[in-house]
Amino acid sequence: MTEPEHAPADEDLDRYRALLTPEGQAILGELRGRDVTGAEALRLGTELRRRYPAGLVVDALGQQELRQRAAAKFTRAADMFFTRAGWEQASAEVVARHRAPRFAGTSTLVELCCGIGGDLVALAADRHVLAVDLDPVHLWMAEQNARAYGVAENVRTLRADVRDAPLAGADAVFVDPARRTGRGRLRTGESEPPLDWCTALPVEKVGIKAAPGLPHDAVPAGWELEFVAVDRDLKEAVAWSPALATARARATLLPGGHTLVALDGDAVAVRAPGEYLLDPSPAVTRAGAVEELARRIGAWKIDDRIAFLSVDRPVDTPFARTLRVLDSRPWNQKKLPALLRSLDVGSVDIRRRGLAGDVDALHRTFKLSGSLRATLVMTRVDDAPWGFVCVEP
Ligand SMILES: C[S@@+](CC[C@H](N)C(=O)[O-])C[C@H]1O[C@@H](n2cnc3c(N)ncnc32)[C@H](O)[C@@H]1O
Repeated sequence: MTEPEHAPADEDLDRYRALLTPEGQAILGELRGRDVTGAEALRLGTELRRRYPAGLVVDALGQQELRQRAAAKFTRAADMFFTRAGWEQASAEVVARHRAPRFAGTSTLVELCCGIGGDLVALAADRHVLAVDLDPVHLWMAEQNARAYGVAENVRTLRADVRDAPLAGADAVFVDPARRTGRGRLRTGESEPPLDWCTALPVEKVGIKAAPGLPHDAVPAGWELEFVAVDRDLKEAVAWSPALATARARATLLPGGHTLVALDGDAVAVRAPGEYLLDPSPAVTRAGAVEELARRIGAWKIDDRIAFLSVDRPVDTPFARTLRVLDSRPWNQKKLPALLRSLDVGSVDIRRRGLAGDVDALHRTFKLSGSLRATLVMTRVDDAPWGFVCVEP
């Protein structure tokens, strides 16, 4: 189905609703679990059109394709409804489930900008939620998706501009402002509604999802910023109002649920690199918790401004990737291919922090045939350009 990014369109809603009719359900049932992303889609489409209305087949195929893609975010994707923009912007289940318990003890929550309901399905598991969105298609999908997760009886939906949403009597608000409109992506730092509007909401307990690049001074004093990574991918920042805040800044790593808070403490020493290099999760760096991590594991810094840490023994921490150093020396690009060959390196990933360079061009200069898979770290040690050749411990 060709769809607008966010333009409220009731005629689009009718097309999605048709997927709930007996015929729509029959087609979706036949497509369930099928891969419709490749050439198979053509063959399936032709075959289905012999038995069902062509428009309905096209819409069902589009929905199955989104369900297939959304399986990376939702365990019940096969029973959910998505628009492309709604799926792309939706919070993944693992993130939404981590976030929802912060609202423990609240019985009535208003969710502003609920989209297709990625957060809603987790928020409504333990409380009543009024879900508000301007887009009737997203709102309808949020209802269907709440049903897919068995929480529909806790959900009421309201089609409205968030500025007109009734907040009287709400214990808490969660808002995930749009970072794109029907005309495309908004500029970095912009959202609809804007962050300033969200932080001024007249409710004490507020959570705001934001882009992971959110600067620390973008929220008022007393608010917490939580930076969330899933595996090594930094996904988002969440701003928690003082009534929900538990720290100044926090790094959260999912799916494990490990969290690290940025605390004030003794300065971490800067020393020459040891046998192991630690590459902190981007959530840890964004939260400003690198020094806290160093203090916890007894690591030191290799440069005042670079977020790599070092230790002399292998460390098992969820907050950083540990690399064993095979070679450590001042950066010398010319001698690098020979060095890698002498270390029996066959393939190399490049990790760059604090040192400029064209990674693709660099890759092309290596003609490697060794047996080791290595990580080449381009960085700075005590402000001097430095290279490490590392392997997994
Ligand atoms: C980022 S998405 C929400 C995603 C959602 N948290 C999820 O996990 O599925 C933002 C939503 O805000 C809605 N929106 C944007 N501006 C709005 C406004 N002024 N009033 C109500 N909804 C709005 C869009 O229609 C879109 O569905």
